[in-house]
Formats: sequence, C-alpha cells, structure tokens
Amino acid sequence: MKVVLRIGGSVLVPSEIDEGVLAALVAQVEKARSVHSLFLVVGGGRTARRYITAARTYNTTDEVLDTLGILSSQLNALLLATCIGGAELVRDIHEAIHARGLPILGGTTPGQTTDTVAALLAEVVNAEIMVKVTHVGGIFTADPARDPGAKKISKMSFSQLESFSREEFKAGISSVIDPVAAAIISQNNLKTVVIGVEDMKDLEKVLTGDHSGTIVG
Ligand code: UTP
Repeated sequence: MKVVLRIGGSVLVPSEIDEGVLAALVAQVEKARSVHSLFLVVGGGRTARRYITAARTYNTTDEVLDTLGILSSQLNALLLATCIGGAELVRDIHEAIHARGLPILGGTTPGQTTDTVAALLAEVVNAEIMVKVTHVGGIFTADPARDPGAKKISKMSFSQLESFSREEFKAGISSVIDPVAAAIISQNNLKTVVIGVEDMKDLEKVLTGDHSGTIVG
C-alpha cells in the first residue's frame, strides 16, 4: 500500500522531545516499510510555536515567521531521518518522489501547513491512504481541550471534513486538518485516518482499519 504518514509535531515534541513516541514511530515505520511504500511528513510542534511566538513581537514578516515554522518541522524531520534506518530528509515533494531512501519531509513553502504538504504529496504519488497522528487521537465534535462534552467522530465523509475544518478554522480553534488540506483530500477522494499515539503502536492494524481514531472517506 502507498501510505503518507503525517506525524504531528506536537506528538513528537509536545514540550520536549517525547523519546517514547520517537521509539514507537521508529519501530513501526521500520516494520511497515518492508510491506508498504511509505512517505513521512512531520510538523514543527512546540518548537515551531516557540520560535514563532518569540519572533512575532518584533518587526518581522509572515514569511519570516513561516520560515521559522518550516525549519522547525525540518529539524523534526531530520531527527526522524537520523533514527530510522535508510530514511532521508527531503526538502520538497519533487525530492520526495526521487528519494532513494524512505523520504521524510517537513514544511516546504511559506503560507501553508504540513497538513497541506502531506495532502499534496499524497495527491502527487497517488497514495491509497493518509494517516495523521495527532495528540488528540481523532476528529471531535468540538475541541476536547476546551469542551468536556466533545465526542470523537468515528467516520465522516469528505464533504463533512471540508465543512468541519472550515468551521473550526473560523472559530479560531486549531483544526485537526487544515482547510486547504481538507479540500485537497476531498477533491482526490483520499482516504484519511486520524489517530492518536496509542494506535501508532501498531501501524499495520491501523492500515487494516482497526483503530480508535476517525476515518474520512
Ligand atoms: P506545522 O504544520 O508544523 O504546524 O506548521 P503544527 O502546529 O506544528 O502542526 P502539528 O503539531 O504538526 O499538527 C508550523 C508552522 O510552520 C509554517 C507555518 O507558519 C505553520 O503555522 N509552515 C509549515 C509553512 O509556512 N509552510 C509549510 O509548508 C509548513
């Protein structure tokens, strides 16, 4: 199976590097890559937010702030590429397609998020599935950090994902999948699964549909 695995930066670096998560990711990716064709995209997480917040109060441009986010995600991508045997850090989608090893991407272009990088990559390589690993473990009816009544949605359609991510974005809640990525996913009928770290302990089970996250598609 051709799989794009999008790892939330906030999963890998919630405040410091989570070495347990790192070890689980390395083990699962090394196991899965003998059976599947894998492409990894990792976000900037706390590192990106710290750098962007520190720089924002000074006279700077959005492009500079985005570059701090991109470099933070590339730092996380390099960490994974260093730990996973035969993996390689790549800087854009073109390099990912032509990589000799298992390609790992961070951010590529100012003005977007790594969700969009992952969705575009999945479109270009014609992936069968995109798996996003988040710290919340799925898509919820509301932000579970703020609303104790928030419920996890086990299955949703592409159009539901699109309207959902737009609404969440408007409300200022950081969306589980950003609206641009949601539109690309929907246009390409790209099956997408949003899971938590617990499910990441057995990626093969996730790929066969056995997980406690959200399925879109
Ligand atoms: P991320 O997509 O890494 O966000 O982008 P995140 O919040 O860390 O996501 P998780 O935790 O992985 O889910 C961080 C910032 O980096 C810039 C943007 O400013 C974004 O908000 N960025 C990232 C880009 O400008 N272009 C990219 O291709 C990726």
